[in-house]
Amino acid sequence: MPALVLVGAQWGDEGKGKATDLLGGSVDYVVRYQGGNNAGHTVVIGDQKYALHLLPSGILSPNVVPVIGNGVVIDPGVLLSELAGLNERGIDTSKLLISGNAHLITPYHRTLDKVVERFLGKRKIGTTGRGIGPTYADKINRVGIRVQDIFDESILQQKVEAALQDKNQLLVKLYNRRAIPAELVVEEYLGYADKLRPFLADTTLVLDEALKANKVVLLEGGQGTLLDVDHGTYPFVTSSNPTAGGACTGAGIGPTKIDRVIGILKAYTTRVGSGPFPTELLDADGEALRRIGGERGVTTGRDRRCGWFDAVIARYATRVNGLTDFFLTKLDVLTGWEQIPVCVAYEIDGKRVEELPYNQSDFHHAKPIYENFPGWTEDLSKAQSFSDLPKNAQAYVKALEEMSGAPISAIGVGPGRYETIQINSFV
Ligand code: IMP
Repeated sequence: MPALVLVGAQWGDEGKGKATDLLGGSVDYVVRYQGGNNAGHTVVIGDQKYALHLLPSGILSPNVVPVIGNGVVIDPGVLLSELAGLNERGIDTSKLLISGNAHLITPYHRTLDKVVERFLGKRKIGTTGRGIGPTYADKINRVGIRVQDIFDESILQQKVEAALQDKNQLLVKLYNRRAIPAELVVEEYLGYADKLRPFLADTTLVLDEALKANKVVLLEGGQGTLLDVDHGTYPFVTSSNPTAGGACTGAGIGPTKIDRVIGILKAYTTRVGSGPFPTELLDADGEALRRIGGERGVTTGRDRRCGWFDAVIARYATRVNGLTDFFLTKLDVLTGWEQIPVCVAYEIDGKRVEELPYNQSDFHHAKPIYENFPGWTEDLSKAQSFSDLPKNAQAYVKALEEMSGAPISAIGVGPGRYETIQINSFV
C-alpha cells in the first residue's frame, strides 16, 4: 500500500487536524515530517476538544502508530507535557515513535527567535517565537543538537558548548541579553533522556517495513504551502518545507512510494504573522469570518487575518505539491452571506495575471480580481452527501474545484469528527 501526503494548500490552519483524524480509521501510521510546536491542530471528538502542537494528530486514534520524523524540530519539554496532558485524559501514547535524527529546540533557540524578531522591528516575520527558525538554521549550519545526542553525555556537552560559543557572544554583545550557560542546557536535556528513550526508533526503517507490509502511511505536513521556505511568500515563511517534497526528506520515504497528495483547503483564506495576503479583508466581512470561523491561533492565541478564497493560490498549491485531491474545510462558515466573492486572478500593474507571481514585489502589488457567487442560508452541518448541500453551495464548491485544478474529494461542514461529506475515498 502506498503512502499519502496531507498538506496545507494555503498559509496553514486549513483544518489538517480534522482531516488526519478523519483518515485515522483507515491508516496505520501518521507521520509528521517537518515543523515543530509552531503548528497547532484542533481535533474535536464528541464533546472533547484536543489541541495538538507537536504530536501527529493520529495519536488520538487507538490503532494508529504516530511517528515524529527526522525533519521535525522537537522541543522536548513541550513534547513531554503534551504527552502527559493526553495521558491524563486517558489517551494511550505508548505507540509513539520518534526519529533519533530529529533536531532539538533548546532554550537558546527560543531566546534567539524572540530577540531577533524584536530587532527586526517593522520587518519582523511574526514568528510563533518557539525557536523554530534558529533550530533549523543550526541544522543547516551543522551545529544542531539531535535527539540521539541526549543519550551520550560527552557528545551532548561538546555539541552544546560548540553551539553556544558564538550564540552567547551574540546574545550578550548584540542583543544585550544574559549568556546561557552550557551546563544548564546539558543538565536539562540529559534529564529528558530516560523519558524519551522508549519512543526512539529508526523511523525510516520502520516506515519502509510498514510500506512493504502493505500498511497505509499518512504523511502529515504542518503549516502550509505558502509558508514553505522554498515555495512560500519568502521571507514571510516558516523555516522548513511543508510542501509534498518535504514529506520525502522529512520522513525518509522515496517519492516513488507516494501516490496521493491531498491538499487541505479552507473555503476562504487565513494567515497569521506578517507578509502579503491579496484577499485580506480589513472590514466587517473579515471580522465576521474571524468570529464565525473561530480564527484564532491554536498555538499563539493570535487573531488570524481573514479574507475571501483565492483560486490563484489554490492552483499554485496544486502545481507545487502535485495535488491529486482537495479536502475543502469550513464551508459552513460561509453560510449567511448574500454574495461570496472569489479571487479568480490578480491585477498587477494594470495586467491580469492568472498564476502566482514568482517575483516578491509583484505579489506585494497584486490586487484580487473577484467573481461573485450567490450565497446560501441553510444549515450545512447535517449534510451527509454532496446532493444534501443547497444548490448555491454546490455551485460554489464546483467552481472552486474547477479553478483549483484538482478534485474536491471531501468537504468539512462543521468542526466535529463526522461533520464531513466524503465524495471520493482517500484510501
Ligand atoms: P515560525 O514557524 O514560528 O518561524 O513562524 C514563521 C511564520 O510562519 C509566521 O508568519 C508564523 O505565523 C507562521 N506559522 C508558523 N506555524 C504556523 C501554523 O501552524 N499555522 C499558520 N501559520 C504558522
